[in-house]
Amino acid sequence: MGFCDLSGKVILITGASSGIGRQTAIRISRQGGKVVISGRDRQKLDEAYRELENDGHLAIDADLTGEKQIGELVDALPELDGIVHCAGIIGPTPAKFIRQGNIDKMFRINFEVPVLLTAKILQKRKIHNNASIIFLSTIATKSPYFGGALYTSAKSALEAYSKNLALELAAKGIRSNCLSPGLVNTPLITDPAKEGNPEIVDESLERYLKKYPLGIGEPDDVANAILFFLSDESRWISGANLIMGSVIQ
Ligand SMILES: NC(=O)c1ccc[n+]([C@@H]2O[C@H](COP(=O)([O-])OP(=O)(O)OC[C@H]3O[C@@H](n4cnc5c(N)ncnc54)[C@H](OP(=O)(O)O)[C@@H]3O)[C@@H](O)[C@H]2O)c1
Repeated sequence: MGFCDLSGKVILITGASSGIGRQTAIRISRQGGKVVISGRDRQKLDEAYRELENDGHLAIDADLTGEKQIGELVDALPELDGIVHCAGIIGPTPAKFIRQGNIDKMFRINFEVPVLLTAKILQKRKIHNNASIIFLSTIATKSPYFGGALYTSAKSALEAYSKNLALELAAKGIRSNCLSPGLVNTPLITDPAKEGNPEIVDESLERYLKKYPLGIGEPDDVANAILFFLSDESRWISGANLIMGSVIQ
């Protein structure tokens, strides 16, 4: 299959019922990989499943904010060659309105869940040597936006965690990397009904586009990079954070 061949690899993708995770799962299946897709919404997960190419894939619906659900997901997993942590939410909160509940909600799915899920997968030995782990951060950790304090703090914590994980797992050849895209055209930013979705997106879009000359990305733009980080072609890259969609480094 050539460059970024994923034949024989089994990859878990969280947040695969929508947006970047969903497109990533489809693209992995086209590269010959088997996927385990996870998301909360069973109907959207089934729709994503139907778009996968080839067979041997699994779909497991779970709200991962519960530790029990994380345990059940890990128990149901086959041994993995890669994990793509896409599940996440945004929810703009100006600094003076931040309450404990906002912190808990924002850090739970954006930071604690990927950390606890990774820990459980390692404990249960559900990941092979030379596997690849990918975390979705955001360019906003480098370039703040109004109301983004909690979201970017949670993602900054994830970036720091990923580097430590890279060090701890290097002896097994397991790699850990972050991707930090700019704005990507997904329901996270386009669906007004989406939980925590900011109505400020429209208002700030013009300002945003001035800041990011490459404009808005598509899920495929991020999936392309994910395929590379999952493949053996990136075997010598770990602890990295790839900024996408901007010239800001
Ligand atoms: N879109 C952007 O502009 C952008 C830019 C930079 C970084 N990112 C990051 O990229 C990742 C994917 O974003 P996206 O734009 O593809 O978002 P999306 O379309 O809204 O998808 C988010 C996914 O996360 C899942 N999810 C949310 N809460 C969950 C929970 N408690 N348990 C399990 N799954 C949960 C959702 O499941 P259900 O839909 O089934 O509920 C959905 O599959 C996120 O981590 C985001 O922070 C996005």
